[in-house]
Amino acid sequence: MTSLNKETLKIRTEQDVIVFRQRLREYVVKIGMSVVNQTKLITAASELVRNILAYAGEGQATIEVVSERLQTGVKIIFKDSGPGIPDINKAMQDGYTTGKSLGLGLPGAKRLVNFFDIKSEVGHGTTVTIIRWKR
Ligand SMILES: Nc1ncnc2c1ncn2[C@@H]1O[C@H](COP(=O)(O)OP(=O)(O)OP(=O)(O)O)[C@@H](O)[C@H]1O
Ligand SMILES: [Mg+2]
Repeated sequence: MTSLNKETLKIRTEQDVIVFRQRLREYVVKIGMSVVNQTKLITAASELVRNILAYAGEGQATIEVVSERLQTGVKIIFKDSGPGIPDINKAMQDGYTTGKSLGLGLPGAKRLVNFFDIKSEVGHGTTVTIIRWKR
C-alpha cells in the first residue's frame, strides 16, 4: 500500500473533533470520493473519535491517503493510551456498552468501511484502523 499524504491530529476536546471532521472532509473531497462513501467514512470516524474522548479522555487520529493497485482511499488510525477494552468480541456486538449509550459505535463503524481492525490491551490503550476506498 502506498501512502500519498499523512497527518496526525490530537483529540482532546470537542473543538478537536470539529477540526478533525473538517480535515477529513477536505481529504475525501480532494481525492474525489463518492458522496455516499464520504458520508460513510465520516460517520464511522466520528464514532471512533467520540470513543476516544468518552473512554480514554484523549488520543490522536492519523489521516492518510492510501493507494493500492487501482484503488485510492483514506485510512485513519485512532490511537489512545486509555484503559483498553477487556473483551473486544463483546465490544464489537450491537448493543454492548459499558456506558449508558446505544453500544452501536464500534459495530456500526465496522459496517461502514472496507477495512476495520481493532487492537486493545487493558491498561495500555486501544488502536482502531479503518480504510474506505473512493468507490
Ligand atoms: N477507545 C476505547 N477505549 C476503551 N474502551 C472503549 C473504547 N472504545 C470503545 N470502548 C468500549 O467498548 C464499548 C462499546 O463501544 P461502542 O462505541 O460500540 O458503544 P458505546 O460507545 O458504548 O455507545 P455508542 O457508540 O452507541 O454511543 C464501550 O461501551 C466501551 O466500554
Ligand atoms: Mg461509542
